[in-house]
Amino acid sequence: MKYRNLSGKRILITGASSGIGRELAIKLAEKGCQIGLMARREKELTLLAQEISKLPGDALVLPADVTKRSQVKKGLQRLIDKWGHLDILIANAGIGLLHKAANLNTEKVEATMQLNFYGTWYAIEAALPVMLTQGQGHIVAISSFAAFRGLPKTAPYSASKAAIARFMESMRVELKDQGIDFTTIYPGFVRTPMTAGNRFKMPFILETSDAAAKIIRVIEKQKAEVIIPWQIAIFSYFIRILPNAAFDRAAKYLS
Ligand SMILES: NC(=O)c1ccc[n+]([C@@H]2O[C@H](COP(=O)([O-])OP(=O)(O)OC[C@H]3O[C@@H](n4cnc5c(N)ncnc54)[C@H](OP(=O)(O)O)[C@@H]3O)[C@@H](O)[C@H]2O)c1
Repeated sequence: MKYRNLSGKRILITGASSGIGRELAIKLAEKGCQIGLMARREKELTLLAQEISKLPGDALVLPADVTKRSQVKKGLQRLIDKWGHLDILIANAGIGLLHKAANLNTEKVEATMQLNFYGTWYAIEAALPVMLTQGQGHIVAISSFAAFRGLPKTAPYSASKAAIARFMESMRVELKDQGIDFTTIYPGFVRTPMTAGNRFKMPFILETSDAAAKIIRVIEKQKAEVIIPWQIAIFSYFIRILPNAAFDRAAKYLS
């Protein structure tokens, strides 16, 4: 299926205060969408809502920590109270810290899984019953190309993004006939605060605006899974089929 037009769609974006989420909110508001803006930093969300008030769409500030189920649920309920319907959830909030394997500890692993995986699940947990009652809905999750193989220093990150990918796939095949669409997006590198501190080369890095425009095109087409940009899609294909011995040698240069 494909949307004729996103105008008027009621959308919840997690991680809307910065980077990809913020840019998605602006671009979707330009198309006339009504956007629930969820993240922890209320001040950033309020400034964004003011920016959106000059655009055709509308915004609702929903401060919440997505690692807290009750806050996510409450935020989504506020959106339903105001707009009565949720068309699309974009579960985008996440962190991408690099950790040397030798320095890993439970706190670091749990923090990444808690935000990237459980934060995504808590948003789906809140949205899915609403969508099932409506008989319609679209759940979009932002994974990463790091989901395809375990890259150096990314053990918790790669694991959290791979978990999102399999989780989304399982839900998609099961709920296809109940009016719920699922889209998983695997970005390569995007220039955002998350990657600002990276000192290594980031091939085919996308500007935030470009990444958001590509993500919206994928949402419009309601595709199941897309890797962006296409150069990273080709790279991801090859690293997925690379035998372990060759991958292990190549991986040394990927950090
Ligand atoms: N940038 C890349 O190269 C890249 C590549 C592949 C995938 N991704 C994925 O894309 C998504 C967005 O990343 P980005 O690059 O745009 O990063 P970013 O600019 O650092 O934005 C992260 C967003 O997540 C929110 N967030 C963090 N912790 C949260 C929490 N506990 N509760 C609610 N919101 C929280 C932040 O808002 P607050 O701090 O206000 O809460 C912020 O809005 C992430 O899932 C990331 O893994 C990024």
